[in-house]
Amino acid sequence: RNEEAQKILEAHQWLSKLYHHLLKHTKEGKEGLEYLLNRGFTEEMIDHFHLGYAPNSKDFVVRFLEKKGYHPQLMVKAGLLSSNESGDYSDRFRGRVIFPIRNHLGKTVAFGGRAIHDQEPKYLNSPETELFHKGRLLYNFDLARSAIRKQGAIILFEGYVDVISAFQAGVHNGVGTLGTSITEHQANLIRRYVEQAIICYDGDRPGIEASLKAARLLRKAGCTVKLARLPDGMDPDDYIKVNGAEKFQREVLGASDTYLAFIMRHLRKEYNLNLEGDRIAYVERVVKEVATLDHAIEREHYLKELANEFELSLDTLKQEVSEHRRRSG
Ligand code: GTP
Ligand code: MN
Ligand code: MN
Ligand code: MN
Ligand code: MN
Repeated sequence: RNEEAQKILEAHQWLSKLYHHLLKHTKEGKEGLEYLLNRGFTEEMIDHFHLGYAPNSKDFVVRFLEKKGYHPQLMVKAGLLSSNESGDYSDRFRGRVIFPIRNHLGKTVAFGGRAIHDQEPKYLNSPETELFHKGRLLYNFDLARSAIRKQGAIILFEGYVDVISAFQAGVHNGVGTLGTSITEHQANLIRRYVEQAIICYDGDRPGIEASLKAARLLRKAGCTVKLARLPDGMDPDDYIKVNGAEKFQREVLGASDTYLAFIMRHLRKEYNLNLEGDRIAYVERVVKEVATLDHAIEREHYLKELANEFELSLDTLKQEVSEHRRRSG
């Protein structure tokens, strides 16, 4: 078993080199390289993140791995090849730009492949294997670790592309959570390194919901959480491409919300605050969230804000918060 894992790991390192070489130095890789350069990634980033290209071939990788001495059946298990009922093997990633996914020791353990035309799915990733557990790994953690320590904060992005774009914009403490939210395991891992976490997910509905979920898990793990402010419908990469690095650092990361400010800003859109019923429902939702805050000063801060805006007495709100806190122990 152990030997198998070792082989699978080795095969990933070879393949990562091959994909990178194909992207940079071959005719087949040219469209992959052009795609990345057109998206604004520099050669330096392509090297730093060791991006690659999987050729649009049925069996290029099958033959490569066989020549290196890896049994195709094992490579299917590794998630690098596919096989059908009649026992034919074929390349899993075809005609895609490749993002190697490294573990925390810097070894490639999986790949993410992005379509460069309109193939579906847009992203094809490696399956879960004994070396790759999506819910345990943070993309780019190995390279970001020292910047995370130095800056005392980690920034969470949804996608590989956002991590790379942010890095190119001078933000080196970013990691990707590979899909839209994080797990308890990842939250605990983060807390072992750093207290402050800034969530910078996409500014769309799934991104906002995932932000709230991640914020709750991180707070539970003991982190102080901030949430970046992205305009509706934009993701970090879009924002950087449109507004530049400096504005991203200042107005998205620098102006990030506290957990409660973020909730209030988004809840407001769901209610029509001109209607009495909605106003009450909104205040009740916010009060419930205020009750989850650990510090009395913080709780009072938001309650005062609510009391002022909705012309309610601070005492009533405080009483409501106490009840929530008593009920949830
Ligand atoms: P670009 O469209 O290249 O800018 O990527 P993005 O990072 O903006 O993609 P998106 O916000 O749609 O998705 C964020 C992350 O979710 C990606 O990096 C992938 O890890 C994952 N993801 C998105 N779409 C798919 C998909 O179709 N299949 C799988 N398996 N994962 C996906
Ligand atoms: Mn290189
Ligand atoms: Mn998204
Ligand atoms: Mn996105
Ligand atoms: Mn994007």
